[in-house]
Amino acid sequence: MTDTASSRSSIGLPIGLLAELTHRCPLACPYCSNPVALEGRDVELSTEGWKRVFSEAAKLGVLQVHLSGGEPAARRDLVALVEHCAKVGLYTNLITSGIGVTEKLIGELAEAGLDHIQLSIQDSDAASADKIAGYKGAFQKKQTVAGWIKAADFPLTVNAVMHRANIARSADMVELAISLGASRVEIAHTQYYGWALPNRAALMPSRSETEAAVAEIEELRIRYLGQIVIDLVIPDYHATYPKACMGGWAKQFINVTPSGKVLPCHASETISGLEFWSIKDHALGDIWRASPAFNAYRGTDWMAEPCRSCDRREIDFGGCRCQAFALVGDASATDPACHKSPQHDLMGDIARAESGGEPGSYIYRRFPPISA
Ligand code: SF4
Ligand code: FES
Repeated sequence: MTDTASSRSSIGLPIGLLAELTHRCPLACPYCSNPVALEGRDVELSTEGWKRVFSEAAKLGVLQVHLSGGEPAARRDLVALVEHCAKVGLYTNLITSGIGVTEKLIGELAEAGLDHIQLSIQDSDAASADKIAGYKGAFQKKQTVAGWIKAADFPLTVNAVMHRANIARSADMVELAISLGASRVEIAHTQYYGWALPNRAALMPSRSETEAAVAEIEELRIRYLGQIVIDLVIPDYHATYPKACMGGWAKQFINVTPSGKVLPCHASETISGLEFWSIKDHALGDIWRASPAFNAYRGTDWMAEPCRSCDRREIDFGGCRCQAFALVGDASATDPACHKSPQHDLMGDIARAESGGEPGSYIYRRFPPISA
């Protein structure tokens, strides 16, 4: 049986791989999903190391690679890595801040076979966008980069993370994405892992702001049907049911850190006691099938009540393990975003208390990390 066929028959195939090529980034967004302990340039995988990851991913059955960071354009070998992904048959999506991207690089990426670009935008208001990014001129630069992306005929997704500083402009973000030529816009309410957790009070919107923003987006989905796809990542501090985080733990996705640690989810290192394997010591297929971290919460056998007997257990897989650990101290607990969780009220209490207080200053994510 081939590697791919044996995986399909036992535990399923991963669909996507998120390659955190580097944690280096010129921006300093306070909700960055990277871990608070960033990995340095000196430990990053080499070009050959990443090529091996991509070759093994293709062999394992992965279809899409998301080239992310930090800022992936900080890697000088980005074009060579894209070329390699195309050679082994992987669909490539570049997730970029646009900062450090040149028109020449866009052309080279097109020639190398890049399939899609996702550009992050912090706000539709320039001054606010630059403040959130911690980088003067970021907003203007992103407009220019979006123009180059469209001129090179790439399909474009605009990604916007929403929080108390920009939530009133959710609809404007959709309009901005349309004006930039995006075919898809992701309106993602902040997920409180990585840098967003220590910044939670500065980022948390109120329930009424959140509900108004969600209603507005639902209306725009209908108005712009056929013109732009609007994806909404739910604000789970105000939810009734949790999201199916990662589409289920170790079910569809693999995350590789700059140094080659292979994770079931980008935030899984926040869960203490998990053992992660590295691509430097193991084949990717072995990690997918046998790594203790991947097997810890795979499937449904690990679940306790109320998830164990719930008819949604194969729909949302008990929600998010990282959120359960962060708020309940037990990664096998029901995500408190679920109304059936005994700790559900805790989320509402936190959201009310933090959104009702002064936002305070951001702890910017810097490389190397510093507070600002
Ligand atoms: Fe999902 Fe568990 Fe809540 Fe059921 S009890 S809806 S499986 S999180
Ligand atoms: Fe890790 Fe949800 S962010 S499982």
